[in-house]
Amino acid sequence: METRLLTENEQPPMALLLTADPSETVVKDYLDRGHCYIAEIDNQAVGVYVLVETSDDTAELINIAVYEQHQGKGIGKALVKDAIQKSKDLGFKTLEVGTGNSSIDQLALYQKCGFRITGVDKDFFIRHYEEEIFENGIQCIDMVRLSQEL
Ligand code: COA
Repeated sequence: METRLLTENEQPPMALLLTADPSETVVKDYLDRGHCYIAEIDNQAVGVYVLVETSDDTAELINIAVYEQHQGKGIGKALVKDAIQKSKDLGFKTLEVGTGNSSIDQLALYQKCGFRITGVDKDFFIRHYEEEIFENGIQCIDMVRLSQEL
């Protein structure tokens, strides 16, 4: 698997990004501020992630998604590890990530990749999203914040 920065002439894979974050307005906003990386196997796109600088020494992994037909094969984990390495290479000291209280698999994935829970942004998804979100039979209300030192 190779990861590369999206070039200026390429369209971001919006449908894929929306599987990780249901608001196109929110996604477009951070695409303007962030670096979008495409993951490819044999020149075919399999996933995406977006890194955003949130302060001089901190970046946030703000979106990560793998095409459904490629999920469950270790690509997500490889993308999180790639994002950690890219953040280090870019000179950041801390990498943060946030996910919903209902995103059980994602909470497992991030902790397996070295992230620790640092806090909870209560009612985040009520404040920022018009539609109600449900996953695993749980309403997504709070954002669980995780971070790791690089
Ligand atoms: N059931 C349960 N857990 C699963 C799973 C499944 N079908 N598939 C993945 N996981 C969990 C496991 O904890 C797994 O760790 P393990 O390999 O040690 O068992 C871990 O996720 C990583 O699996 P991996 O195969 O690397 O993940 P993936 O390629 O499927 O990608 C996502 C994971 C989250 C990126 C992918 O499911 C996705 O794109 N989902 C939609 C978008 C999204 O929700 N993005 C995150 C927003 S916070």
